[in-house]
Formats: sequence, structure tokens, C-alpha cells
Amino acid sequence: MTKEKRLSITIDNKKMEVRPNITILQAARENGVYIPSLCILEHLPSYGACRLCVVEVDGLRGFPTSCTTPVEDGMVIRTDTAEVRSLRQEVLKLLLSEHPASCLFCTEQSECKDYQGTIRKVGVTTGCRYCPNDTRCELQLITEKVGLTETSYPVYYRGFPVEKEDPFYDRDYNLCILCGRCVRVCNDVRLNGTLSFKQRGKQTTIGPAFDRTHLEAGCEFCGACVTVCPTGALSAKVSKWYGKPDTQVGTTCVYCPVGCRLILQVKNDETIDALPDYDSPLDRGLICVKGRFAIPEYVHSAKRYISPQRATPIGYEDISWDQAIDEAKERLSGIKPEDCFIMVSPQLSNEDLFTAQRFAREVMKGEEIFSSPIADLGADLAPFLDLVMHASPYDVIDTAQGVLTIGFDSTYGFTPIGIQVKAAARRGANLATVGSFESNLDMLAETVHQAEPSRWAGMVDSLVKAMSSNGAVNVVVVGPDIVFDPARRAVFNKVIELRDAHKWKVIVAHPYTNLLGMLATGAFTGIKPGEALKSGGKGSAVTIKGAAVYPDLKKKRKVVYVIGEAQTDMIPPCDYLIYQNGLPPVGDRKPDLILPVCMFTETSGTTVNAEGKVLAVQKACGPFMKSKPDWWIISRIAEKLRKGAFKYNSVQAVQGDIKKQIKGFFSMKKGLEFVKVNMKEGGDGGSGPVLPHAKRSGGSREEAYRGVPLASVVSGMKAIEERRHHE
Ligand code: SF4
Ligand code: SF4
Ligand code: SF4
Ligand code: SF4
Ligand code: FES
Repeated sequence: MTKEKRLSITIDNKKMEVRPNITILQAARENGVYIPSLCILEHLPSYGACRLCVVEVDGLRGFPTSCTTPVEDGMVIRTDTAEVRSLRQEVLKLLLSEHPASCLFCTEQSECKDYQGTIRKVGVTTGCRYCPNDTRCELQLITEKVGLTETSYPVYYRGFPVEKEDPFYDRDYNLCILCGRCVRVCNDVRLNGTLSFKQRGKQTTIGPAFDRTHLEAGCEFCGACVTVCPTGALSAKVSKWYGKPDTQVGTTCVYCPVGCRLILQVKNDETIDALPDYDSPLDRGLICVKGRFAIPEYVHSAKRYISPQRATPIGYEDISWDQAIDEAKERLSGIKPEDCFIMVSPQLSNEDLFTAQRFAREVMKGEEIFSSPIADLGADLAPFLDLVMHASPYDVIDTAQGVLTIGFDSTYGFTPIGIQVKAAARRGANLATVGSFESNLDMLAETVHQAEPSRWAGMVDSLVKAMSSNGAVNVVVVGPDIVFDPARRAVFNKVIELRDAHKWKVIVAHPYTNLLGMLATGAFTGIKPGEALKSGGKGSAVTIKGAAVYPDLKKKRKVVYVIGEAQTDMIPPCDYLIYQNGLPPVGDRKPDLILPVCMFTETSGTTVNAEGKVLAVQKACGPFMKSKPDWWIISRIAEKLRKGAFKYNSVQAVQGDIKKQIKGFFSMKKGLEFVKVNMKEGGDGGSGPVLPHAKRSGGSREEAYRGVPLASVVSGMKAIEERRHHE
């Protein structure tokens, strides 16, 4: 590889070597030189609107903007002369002439908070210290850096009403400085195009065209505009009054198997917000509404259990953890394996799932570990697992010449995949969509087919004939609309044929966050830890008996132990129901014993995303009230039932055992690789569910966490769900 030629430049009398093809602003930043800037947005081309980043360059007339001027060899740049400072102050004064500025210049500002109770406040839009952005505002910081302490221009107050009618975030355009960041991130990063500049002159503002609400204009509520806004003009409803967070913690979103990286914002030991990480190679910061806005309200829901509880004839009573573990032990002691039914959630961490399967096998001596994919997919489970376990990484879309989506819409989920599909279509890839309803990708597609799912397999057949060509990379994205439709079998078979016979790459967008972790750790009937992995050394396939995977859901059990699921209508009848979750069940069945758990923001662990990558889930704050991690609770019951069985005191101890039992689990750089799963006696034939009694209650399957639909806990998600029903 030839070495890149470095350029020699001088900034503020300091000589430095810099990369070619970058701007003066980039060169300065990379070498620790501060230049104020407002309209520039990382990952997007320069815009040159605010003029705050002006500098002096020998040989260039006037004051060029550093964000638009490329560096040249031998360039001599001055960033901090008296003229430059004065010009920046003048630019900022003009910018602030339409921005309420008492938080910046009011002489009483340092005492302001002390008088909150006694002086009459005139509302947030005057820009006093009660602006939601106070103390975390880029404009405040820049005003300080530029050294502006007063303004000579009269401040024109534009008097826009604060817009609060859409879910998730409020808009106060009196605070907008028209930097255009929100418009560009929406159009050029999210490829969505909801926003544009509206009106002219002093009445210029931002928003969807034709006075539609954001909801009506197809806003994805991804919050990217809120994240990049340098002022308090755009603010998240749930977190706007918290001020600056105490800490930030990087973690993985567990709401779906994409596995986006989130930067959780923590204040007073509470998760108050979640931001994208634009440097994350996996999702590129393209998180969806669920990761961006649906976490704080869920994890701090008023419905959360605060203590273990047991049912009494007159309701529930709070009990201690010792009492709860004793009670569970008493009920589970001495019962036969077939009298105990264990259900786990595919949204649990690998550590929880590994511990749960140990409990089922080593303590209860059973092999039955039920979960929602078995219930939902029924007889079509085997081809579904075949597709999921051999899916391609998302970045195959980057080089695809043809993309076919089936039952896929990325407005409110799977956005990193959806945006990559949009980008592929924009650069000329042939995009075809098949679905029952209009999808957010249809606008960019060359071919759009809308029909009943029963006709999709036939449509796919005719479409791929037109799309396939020698040597081309083609990708098919299978969406949740077909995963949950009775016509899925024919589509799954067609996609498997595309993959095996025509070398198409397959991506499956499904809601079972850690399904691959569940299979890898063996928290699945008939699959032991590591057996489903190529590194397990057990050959190229694992065979399980369909009859064992599909339990008799009518048969009454002595105890049902539900770990991390809320859909209690799915489970068989029983004498005693142990319910381990954070929020109440969604079905009608009432638990006999409630064991409150930590949410993923309160405990550490790992999850496996749809590409097979093992990703860290990081604890951001302490447990809510008496909640405990799932692995802790399971291992305490195990220890009580069988002395010396196993007892974990830390998540690292669980990981140590996973490492010992599952070769390469935490060290596969390219991700886990799976063998084929064969199913005997059912699960690989016929069509339609084999579990007529397995049903779900209470809302969308795609948007749930630990079995609880997000719309039942997060108010904005409810608004989105209602909009869907109106369409
Ligand atoms: S947006 Fe920033 S500068 Fe403007 S009022 Fe709010 S905190 Fe002050
Ligand atoms: S939330 Fe996302 S889609 Fe909606 S306007 Fe902002 S950037 Fe655009
Ligand atoms: S709303 Fe915020 S990001 Fe958008 S133009 Fe105004 S100040 Fe800039
Ligand atoms: S796409 Fe999935 S992983 Fe990413 S933020 Fe949304 S729900 Fe979370
Ligand atoms: S940052 Fe350079 S013009 Fe705005």
C-alpha cells in the first residue's frame, strides 16, 4: 500500500503535517486547535451557513470559512487574530438578534435558580435559565468561547407557538438559529426528507411541507434532528427537563436483533435518555424510535414491581427475597420434569439464557425449554431458523446491485437496514418491494408489488428472474409482516432457494432480539450449549425432535416458571405460576409468585445480534428497588433446590462457565457461525401453526420488550400504533 502524502501547513505559527483532502476545520480539530462552528455536521458535507468558523489564510482574500476551505500544502492559517475574533462576535450578534438570550447575557443569571420560587417566570421561550437546553447547549458554549458578553442589537422575538402535538419531542422555533442541521440529518443521513425550510425572512422556520404534522409527513421519530440541534429548539419530551446528564454509558439496544449501539444518558442513577453513536460501524448511528425514545419510559415505568410478591386470597403481599426463593423451592421440590414447564424470553441476555438452561437440565432434569418463536412460528419453525441462523451481515447491502424486500417497512424499526436499502436504491441498485401495504421504501423502488401475502411467493419468483444476473450481489430482506403471516412457509422456501441455488444474501428482520444467543447457549428444547455452533465440533447439523419442541399446551403442569416473558396466555394450565419479569403480565393469567427483575439498563451481560456478533450490554444505573438480574434469581432457586448445583455471584462467573462450555463464544471476531438445524416429526412440514392454543395478547409482536408491548407502557409508541391502525 502506498503511503498517503502528508501536507505541511502552519496554524497559529505552529507547523504541522496533515492528511490531504480535508478542510482547514478538520485539520485544526485533528491537531487540537479550537475553531467555533455551528452549522457543520460530522459525517455530512460542509454547509457554510453560520460563518462562525472564519479564519485568515495567507494569500486568500477576506475571511474564508474553515469548514468549506480545503487545506493545501504550505498553507499559513491564523484562527485567533483580533480581526477574526471581532468578526466572529459580529456574526454571533446577528445570529442572536432573533434568539432569546437572557440565559447568555442576563446579569442575574447566576442567582436565577435561587429565585425560582419567588420571581415570575415568563416561559421557556424567553431563553432564560429554564430553557430545556440550559447547561448542555452548544450555543451557550460557543457564545462563551467567542467571548461575547453582551449584544448591541435589539432582540426580535418571533413569537412562534411551541409545537407539542407530535409524540416524543417538542419544537420551539423561537430558539432556532436556522443552522439547517436538522434538515440535513433528516434528508442526507436518514434519507427521510420530512423537514425543509418554510416561509421567508423573520418568519423562516423548519418543518414538514404543507403544514402537516410530523406524524402525517412520515417522520420516523428517530430523533436524529433532536440529537444534532445545537439549541433547545428541539427537545425530547421524556428528558428535556433533566439538564446535563451525570454520566454516559455505551451499551447495546435489546429491543430488536439489529443490535444498535446506544449511549445511555444517566442522571441521579436513572437512565434519562438514549443517544445514537454515529461512530458505531454496525448501525452507523441510524437507530430507530424505539432505541432513541422508548427506553426511559419503559425502564422507569410506574407499573414496575418494587418487591417480590406472592398471591394471597385478598391480593398480593410483598415478601423478602429469602421468602420468595423458599416459596419457589417448595413448589418445585420433588416434581417430575414433565410437571414443570419453563418458558424463556429471546430478549434475555446470553448469561440469563445459559443459566436458565442449566436450571432446566441440571436441576429440574428436563429438556423442555419453551419460548415465543416456537409458539409464533409453529410448523414453520425449521425453515425460519434455517434463514435466521444463516443470515448475512447487513453491510452486504452496501455493494448490492439488486435488493428485494418482502413484508418489510423500516419506518419505526430496523432503520439501519432500511436506510442501507434506501442508500442502495439511490446509488442505482434495483430495488423491488413486495408487501400488503405501502412501505416507506416504495418511493425509491423500481418495482412495487402490493398483494395478499398468499401471492408473495409467486411474485418473488417472477421478480428475481428479472433481477438476477451473473456475478451480481443480490440481497433479500425478509420482514416481520411475512414472519407472522400464515403464508410464510412458501416465502421461506422461496428465499432458501434464492440463497442456496442463486447465491442471494439473506437478511431477516424479526423481533426475537437474542434468538441466536438462545440457540447458541442451548436455551432451546433439544439443543445443548454450543451444539448449534460450527465451533461446537458436532458436525454440520443438529437434529431435534419436533415432538419435543412442541409441547402439549393443553396438559396441566404442577409449576410453570416464566422467565422474562409477559404473554402468560401462551402457557399451559398449571397449579402454580412463577412469573419473573419487571412489569405485570399481558394475559389474563395471574401469577402466584412474582420475582422482580432488573431491566437491561440495570445489569450487564451480552446479546447476539442478527449477524451473529456477541455484543456487550452495559449496566448504566443501579437496580430498581428490589429487582435482581435474571441469572441471580435462577441460580438462587437452583442452589436452594439442589445444594451445590450452581450459584452465581457475578455475571463474570456466568461468562466464565459459558467460555468453558461453548468454544469461542466470546472470541469469534466475525460472529458466531451456526450449523443446520434439522427437525424430525413436525416443524418442517405442512403449513400454519401447530399450536392452536399459543396466542398473544395486548398488541404488536414486533414492538415489545420482555413480552410487554411498548405501546402499553410508552405513550409515544401508543400514538404511533394508533396512527398505524388509522391507515
Ligand atoms: S437554546 Fe441555548 S442559548 Fe438559547 S436559550 Fe436555550 S440554553 Fe440559552
Ligand atoms: S425525527 Fe427523524 S425522521 Fe423525523 S424529522 Fe427528525 S430526523 Fe426526520
Ligand atoms: S431546529 Fe435546531 S437544528 Fe434545526 S435549524 Fe433550528 S437550530 Fe438548527
Ligand atoms: S433498530 Fe433495533 S436495535 Fe436498533 S435502535 Fe431500533 S430497536 Fe434498537
Ligand atoms: S461551521 Fe463553517 S460556516 Fe458554519
